[in-house]
Amino acid sequence: MTSVKALRPASSKPAAPRHFLDLSEFDGATLKGLIDAAVRRKKARAGMSRGALDKDAPLDGKMLALIFEKPSTRTRISFDVGMQELGGRTLVLTGQEMQLGRGETIADTARVLSRYVDAVMIRTLSHDTLNELAENASIPVINGLTKLSHPCQVMADVMTFEEKKGSIRGRTVAWTGDANNVMASWVHAAARFEFRLRVATPAELAPRPAIKSWAAKSGADIRFIRDAEEAVDGADVVVTDAWVSMGDKEVTKRHNALQPYQVNSALMARAAKDAIFMHCLPAHRGEEVTDEIIDGPQSVVFDEAENRMHIQKAILEWCLSE
Ligand code: CP
Ligand code: NVA
Repeated sequence: MTSVKALRPASSKPAAPRHFLDLSEFDGATLKGLIDAAVRRKKARAGMSRGALDKDAPLDGKMLALIFEKPSTRTRISFDVGMQELGGRTLVLTGQEMQLGRGETIADTARVLSRYVDAVMIRTLSHDTLNELAENASIPVINGLTKLSHPCQVMADVMTFEEKKGSIRGRTVAWTGDANNVMASWVHAAARFEFRLRVATPAELAPRPAIKSWAAKSGADIRFIRDAEEAVDGADVVVTDAWVSMGDKEVTKRHNALQPYQVNSALMARAAKDAIFMHCLPAHRGEEVTDEIIDGPQSVVFDEAENRMHIQKAILEWCLSE
């Protein structure tokens, strides 16, 4: 083992932990470096036997806690498998089985976890909970989705775009549908990776003022509009997500407002001829996207899902590098 957590004296003051909370907190070069590392990890894994993978273990001796206050398939499994393939170990917990579920503060939870494990990934609706965990932890904290953002997802998506179509810099990304957490991370990514972003949402489900003003201040080429066709016209990639995200209410209102934003053949036909279709999954077929699009030749949704694991390996290595 390269490190043993329990041997660190409780009173020692380690360097500030390397959190991965939001793409807005990073410069473009750091994010591109993570994508390069993920591409190298993906190539290496493709050529490796199980035995060789076990020998390439940069996170040997490290323990990652995965805390889920909401359901997950991709995030849970890709972090678990990814960490183990890097030689580390994981502890998968739900908020309900911890004292958090009975009211222990997140700050106290952060201090306790910092004595046991080397890093924490958390999926929680409240972005304040994520920030409070990070502020009080002396170990890295990774955002596995909050109501405000989903940075690991959009890193996998940028990686997938570049794998299929080359550099994303200067290209056009169209978002159509709800102004949700994944959209917000696309806004951050547009500024850091320097691509054009067109976001089409209904007036009643428009982006929060905070993300609009962040976009304006960033100086990036980001437009927030109403019309899905206008957003998709000539785009290199069309992206959408569920109409009802975890924690959302007013399901009927959302369905009615978002119907014109569905990605179907007619809408997709307005994008560039070689455009790709992206969705973070889980998809609600027949709602935000039709079967013919998500199962069609332009869809790269399962590559996005796979790339979650490769990019998160790069993120874990970055967070845990001494
Ligand atoms: N895309 C994504 O984060 O999926 P899960 O909710 O299954 O983790
Ligand atoms: N916007 C969705 C993403 C799920 C991965 C949600 O928050 O439910």
